[in-house]
Amino acid sequence: MTDITAKLASGSKVEMTQLVMPGDGNVLGTAFGGRIMQWIDLCAAMAAQRHTRMPVVTASIDRLDFLGPVRIGDIALLRAQVNAVFGSSMEVGCEVLAENPLTGERRRCCDAFLTFVALGADGCPARAPLLLTATEEEARRVAEATARRATRLAERKGGPG
Ligand SMILES: CC(C)(COP(=O)(O)OP(=O)(O)OC[C@H]1O[C@@H](n2cnc3c(N)ncnc32)[C@H](O)[C@@H]1OP(=O)(O)O)[C@@H](O)C(=O)NCCC(=O)NCCS
Repeated sequence: MTDITAKLASGSKVEMTQLVMPGDGNVLGTAFGGRIMQWIDLCAAMAAQRHTRMPVVTASIDRLDFLGPVRIGDIALLRAQVNAVFGSSMEVGCEVLAENPLTGERRRCCDAFLTFVALGADGCPARAPLLLTATEEEARRVAEATARRATRLAERKGGPG
């Protein structure tokens, strides 16, 4: 049976580092956006799984802003955390920083919000453990994620176009 005991938001935190290699790049000498998206999806999925300890699937990625380039040779540092849990779905926020390995200087390069859905043993959506907040920052994340979910649901109701 699935354990839906409430868990602390901080328990879902994931940090992932990637050295950006030439094979990760585009013709401009910066990281290919699709590769960064792959790393974001992985990092965020681990946060969702760390929270739920259940299989999860990516349902949607509704915000992904590239704020600046990640250069080949940089260290890409990804941080993800579950922002809010709804029913079977949850929003995970992920940020990407680019670190210059020679100077240690860090720049914020990308922010994304992803929705994951937890699956039960039958492969169908199943209730995820509730999220406990311990800080004002975590409570703010819940409020903001809840507002974004309302927009998401309204957009889905409207359908494409
Ligand atoms: C995501 C998926 C499991 C939802 O299944 P479904 O039968 O449509 O489920 P439901 O309509 O009962 O919705 C279940 C939950 O998912 C949420 N959801 C479904 N589609 C969503 C979407 N596109 N964006 C955000 N949330 C979504 C619902 O709001 C609901 O949330 P709640 O339980 O917190 O209220 C299903 O669409 C799926 O398997 N998609 C493919 C996932 C995939 O292959 N991802 C890439 C590889 S991991």
